[in-house]
Amino acid sequence: MEKTYQRMVLAAGLAVAVGMVGCAAMQETDKSGEEALTLMKKDFKSRGQATVDRLNQDDVQALCTKYSGDAALPPEEARRVEAAQMAHVKYPADGKLLGDWKAGEKVAQAGNGMQWSDNPSKPGGGNCYACHELTKAELSFGTIGPSLYHFGRNRGFTAESQKYAYGKVYNSEAFAACSSMPRFGAHGILTEQQIKDVVALLMDPHSPVNQ
Ligand code: HEC
Repeated sequence: MEKTYQRMVLAAGLAVAVGMVGCAAMQETDKSGEEALTLMKKDFKSRGQATVDRLNQDDVQALCTKYSGDAALPPEEARRVEAAQMAHVKYPADGKLLGDWKAGEKVAQAGNGMQWSDNPSKPGGGNCYACHELTKAELSFGTIGPSLYHFGRNRGFTAESQKYAYGKVYNSEAFAACSSMPRFGAHGILTEQQIKDVVALLMDPHSPVNQ
């Protein structure tokens, strides 16, 4: 969602900004981005839980839109974003990070949730396979993100790796500023239990991810 929007704004921005350099190009992109946003706000309609205010970018999204394309995010800005996002990662109060990998596999496969046609009172999915390979049984998967096959085996079945996996799924930006991976916990896309289940899928030695 976030990235699609960034791309749309960028595409509109590029049409105007092409051929310009440095600061001038950045200002043009900002300006045409605003124009694109005004257009979208005019044409898009709220429907069910999918409301038009989703077009409003938070600070990180705005920053990442500004630096998408040729203007690379300066490393010190990236570290600042990651530290600020890390402060929002909520680890489970009971200290347990591993749920049930079988439930996690269902979450990884499910692409529903957050859409106007979805029932907001029903749990949504993580759609992990849209971007990642996870198991060998699933033949269809996207490659926007790296393969997560053998994730636990490769990283080691340690408490530290569990913590990283939980934090990464909770808030991808805490570990990679301007990541195109959704912030599942931070944006309430997945519940704490669902994240635990997905972490078990990645980290349980018996999960098909680690066979
Ligand atoms: C829209 C695409 C997208 C979706 C959906 C997505 N990811 Fe990602 N993911 C990425 C990208 C891109 C990266 C690499 C960049 C980064 O680290 O943020 C990544 C990185 C990761 C990493 C870090 C890998 C490593 O070796 O450090 C983990 C773990 C991960 N994703 C788990 C998940 C899980 C679990 C789900 C489903 C709940 C999921 N992702 C859904 C795009 C996605």
